[in-house]
Amino acid sequence: MTLPQTLILATHNQGKVKELREPLARFGFEVKSLPDDFPEVAETGSTFEENALIKAHAVADALGVPAVADDSGIEVDALGGAPGVYSARYGRDWPEREGESADGRNNRKLLTELEGVPSARRAARFRCCMVMAYPSSWKDRPEDIVVSGAWEGRIAERPSGSNGFGYDPLFIDPSTGRTGAELTREEKMARSHRGKALAKLLEALERRRS
Ligand code: IMP
Repeated sequence: MTLPQTLILATHNQGKVKELREPLARFGFEVKSLPDDFPEVAETGSTFEENALIKAHAVADALGVPAVADDSGIEVDALGGAPGVYSARYGRDWPEREGESADGRNNRKLLTELEGVPSARRAARFRCCMVMAYPSSWKDRPEDIVVSGAWEGRIAERPSGSNGFGYDPLFIDPSTGRTGAELTREEKMARSHRGKALAKLLEALERRRS
């Protein structure tokens, strides 16, 4: 099967773009960004997979180009799996502090909710579902590719590190004892939920290429 040359990353999250662009380009795609004025796609699903499918199809259909979408988040056992699919919006119900980013507010809320919870009960995992979808206007379009990955770890007592994005400064990777924000991009991708999902996506594309 001939693979499309161009794909679009169906996200405005620059943290995700930084992690996905280079490996997809190395695989041979011309990787395009979502136009700045592309409206936020409503994440109306109740699972990572549903939301990734919604985002990938919305973008592929609107722009007529194959799209890769990632829906991801963090599940904290001591919070019954929250914030899960609501990870991006977790801190929205908390009062804003001047100069604080949305990620900063999410992290502040998470640390507050876990105050007093000992290290042994701070288990958490990142999950990612990644979808490659094709425009419905394409005749004989290939089937969607749907893959996922998880990264087990625990929530730190305080943030540390400045790489990555989102909850990375609070997420301790057990194999290194460092937070996601203390890992280089390559180290993070070798372990992370997104790195694992992307590896599976590339394997599926490789099988279609051969
Ligand atoms: P989405 O855009 O609905 O998939 O939101 C994902 C949210 O989960 C992000 O805004 C981050 O808060 C969090 N998240 C997902 N992946 C990561 C990661 O690799 N590191 C840190 N936070 C992440």
